[in-house]
Amino acid sequence: MTETFLPFSRPSINQEAIDEVVDCLKSGWIATGPRVAQFTEDLKKYLNAPHALTLMSATGGLHLALLALDLKPGDEVITTPLTFAATLNAIVLAGAKPVLVDIDPKTLNIDLNQVEKAITKKTRVIMPVHFAGLPVDLDALYTIANKYNLRVIEDAAHAIGTEYKNKKIGSFGDIQVFSFHPIKNMTTGEGGCVTTRDDVVAKKISLLRFHGIDRDSWNRYGKGGTQDYEVVLPGFKYNMTDIQAALGIHQLKALDHFNQRRNELADRYHEILSSWSQWTLPERPDFQHKHAWHLYTPLLNESVAKMNRDEFMIAMKENNIGTGLHFRAVHLYPYYRDTFGFKLGDFPHAENICERIVSLPLFPDMTTAEQDRVIDAMKKIFNVK
Ligand SMILES: Cc1ncc(COP(=O)(O)O)c(C=O)c1O
Repeated sequence: MTETFLPFSRPSINQEAIDEVVDCLKSGWIATGPRVAQFTEDLKKYLNAPHALTLMSATGGLHLALLALDLKPGDEVITTPLTFAATLNAIVLAGAKPVLVDIDPKTLNIDLNQVEKAITKKTRVIMPVHFAGLPVDLDALYTIANKYNLRVIEDAAHAIGTEYKNKKIGSFGDIQVFSFHPIKNMTTGEGGCVTTRDDVVAKKISLLRFHGIDRDSWNRYGKGGTQDYEVVLPGFKYNMTDIQAALGIHQLKALDHFNQRRNELADRYHEILSSWSQWTLPERPDFQHKHAWHLYTPLLNESVAKMNRDEFMIAMKENNIGTGLHFRAVHLYPYYRDTFGFKLGDFPHAENICERIVSLPLFPDMTTAEQDRVIDAMKKIFNVK
């Protein structure tokens, strides 16, 4: 085989970003400093959010957002079984109990028609995931949250640039958490950000992300700064570095362009594959929205394809093409089964979909010729003329 391996995702990093990282490395300040401050301002402006708190991951962001809400042991957080382990781990690490609600098989987001019946006296938070970059119906979600006086943490790891009814995710609502991991729509190597309109939550997260110290070391070591500080609570070490922010500043500038290209590629997959009976393609809800297309995730129709999803992924690899699996049903991992008693059959839609879902290659620098390679490999594997 002469063709190089086509990965399912690859970050696009331009020369300006590389130069900025090099400038940062040469500047004498590589931990949290002026570039984090600039990236934070840029994020606030882009997301139209009064508070943006950069962190070293979205996992850290979910953890601190939950801690900032002062959950008590046994408090319940409602979320979806179609997510990465980070979502549930953060709930457990914050001392709360994850309560899962099955997904809507069309949108693959949490089924809002089933959320109310999962609410108990102990429920404190609803934590939906904007799966693959498609927004949850937030008007409906916040109506439920307001009715029961619940907080909302939107796991927006897939959703930077996503819009719900002409408003960016992050520009309204309670708390949002974004990821800048390398496969995400923009990257800082590893990284994340929390947005909120709640001054108390923002202050608490800013303390918790850096030792509970009431000012960062940049202010202490910089010119005109003072060495003095107070520790007001036992915090973590979740702060973003200037090296990460140097990359982030330029990724954010390119984000709309990246997302535009993701949209074009997703539309083209849709157009080509809509006549293939081997696939059930991603569906879109009726409300106005802008999809970030973090992932393009068709569901394999095994009986037509005459193979299962895992066999399909292996066949693609044999054709030198990478695919992704987002995700296995999270409640079926041993820790959650053993600790919370989840079992097969609890969330039938998620379980069925997680057996059939595949993430096809999709990234901003992917060429039309590379997308044709994906299509041609699938034609060969399925014996489609
Ligand atoms: C839905 C979801 N939530 C949270 C995370 C965690 O993000 P991070 O890797 O930035 O900690 C991920 C990462 O893949 C994710 O897919």
